Amino acid sequence: MDASAPPPPPLLLLAAAAAAAVLLAVALECLHAFWRPRRRGAAARRLPPGSTGLPLIGETLRLISAYKTPDPEPFIDARVARHGGVFTTHVFGERTVFSADPAFNRLLLAAEGRAVDCSYPSSIATLLGARSLLLTKGAAHKRLHSLTLTRLGRPASPPLLAHIDRLVLATMRRWEPAATVRLMDEAKKITFNLTVKQLVSIEPGPWTESLRREYVKLIDGFFSIPFPFASLLPFTTYGQALKARKKVAGALREVIRKRMDEKLEAGGGDGDDEEKREKKDMVEELLEAEGGSFSEEEMVDFCLSLLVAGYETTSVLMTLAVKFLTETPAALAQLKEEHDNIRDIKGNKQPLEWGDYKSMPFTQCVINETLRVANLISGVFRRANTDIHFKDYTIPKGCKIFASFRAVHLNNDHYENARTFDPWRWQGKNKLQNAVGASLFTPFGGGPRLCPGYELARVVVSVFLHHLVTRFSWEEAEEDRLVFFPTTRTLKGYPINLRRRPDSSF
Ligand code: HEM
Repeated sequence: MDASAPPPPPLLLLAAAAAAAVLLAVALECLHAFWRPRRRGAAARRLPPGSTGLPLIGETLRLISAYKTPDPEPFIDARVARHGGVFTTHVFGERTVFSADPAFNRLLLAAEGRAVDCSYPSSIATLLGARSLLLTKGAAHKRLHSLTLTRLGRPASPPLLAHIDRLVLATMRRWEPAATVRLMDEAKKITFNLTVKQLVSIEPGPWTESLRREYVKLIDGFFSIPFPFASLLPFTTYGQALKARKKVAGALREVIRKRMDEKLEAGGGDGDDEEKREKKDMVEELLEAEGGSFSEEEMVDFCLSLLVAGYETTSVLMTLAVKFLTETPAALAQLKEEHDNIRDIKGNKQPLEWGDYKSMPFTQCVINETLRVANLISGVFRRANTDIHFKDYTIPKGCKIFASFRAVHLNNDHYENARTFDPWRWQGKNKLQNAVGASLFTPFGGGPRLCPGYELARVVVSVFLHHLVTRFSWEEAEEDRLVFFPTTRTLKGYPINLRRRPDSSF
């Protein structure tokens, strides 16, 4: 989904807003909004132009219909052509100002915590947990965000890169020399195992698998209808998600308690030299942060939000990079050459090191272009904390705003042939920096909520592509296509026929 659509919030969250909002909760909200007395003040008159569609449902059904087709773009294109880059619509129960304007998007991202705050439906907040990084605000958000960056923002650290290399290969080793796999499923296994390893240092095995089974039900809840009293309706998807959340949180709580006890027994601090720092997992970091002041529940919600945040996004990025490459043979050939060159120097068995990652310039072009075209997070919702003035408009306090990254990424004014996958467009010095600086490329958001996993995701996908192209060849097992509702992914999980390359070994 996207644009004003049911874009996946920080993560899949917006998508949840879409699916969930659409029916029940949203219908109620719509009703409420409909009967609320309308403001006719000057600020209301100066709202960006647009249409709020039908009573109650606004333009929600039009938006959803558009995102259920293979080409959702006309929904935004038509409104931008009619009203300009910032327009008003009414979706998911609320009047919403929609921005396809990079300058306004930049302003919104930077104003987080001041003129605007991020905004999620309560059904999503319940699944995430009140102390989730995605929901906290103000000073609490600042401290959690910087702690996350300390941990995730260092993918260069040798132990982390070694784990990524090893866990990617462990999954690929299980593929038969000639096999059909659903790439999306395999990518999800890799991503989940990696995140668990980073959080709590537990290797893939029965514990991780049973956690993953519950976790998948929890994720389904983000895309379901949050019936009122869902906890009393365990047969609904949302009810099952609530139950699964309890189990996932319980499993994490158990690990955290054990670690707390071990720490007490060891007499607290055990030094902090560089080597130990690099070996720390996220729980260790949390236990030591701020003099050990994080509560057990804070740590559980924090770990859970990291599991949610990186899972779907990184797995879909892996899958779509492979799909787009398969459909663009010249790009695939150039990528293979880049990675074969690395293997020619290192031999078949040496693990990847940071220097190798840094010598994958074309791979980075492929990743940028996949992010640009796929728009895994199509934009972010914010709510105005104050009247916001932009150009001739005033967006009143309390108004919902959607900053669409997709609308910018796919605009021909900003990118030539914007709807074509063309990784070569990123070649050349500073192309990426210039686009980020001009807010034309924001797949990871920006400002105080800039995705703390942005570098980690790139490293994981680079390592995955490296081992895939140097060890396998493949073709599509069946035709598959992109779908955009409730989130961007492929319809069938991208089944491919793999064959191990004769010149490769594990
Ligand atoms: C392709 C992969 C990814 C994409 C496209 C992506 C995108 C984003 C975006 C757009 C936001 C900003 C949300 C907002 O402003 O409201 C965000 C936030 C976040 N991301 Fe990512 N992300 C990715 C991978 C990851 C990974 C691997 C992790 C961690 C394991 C992660 C953790 C987070 C967290 C914790 C936040 C919330 C930050 C905050 O609210 O302060 N992400 N992500």
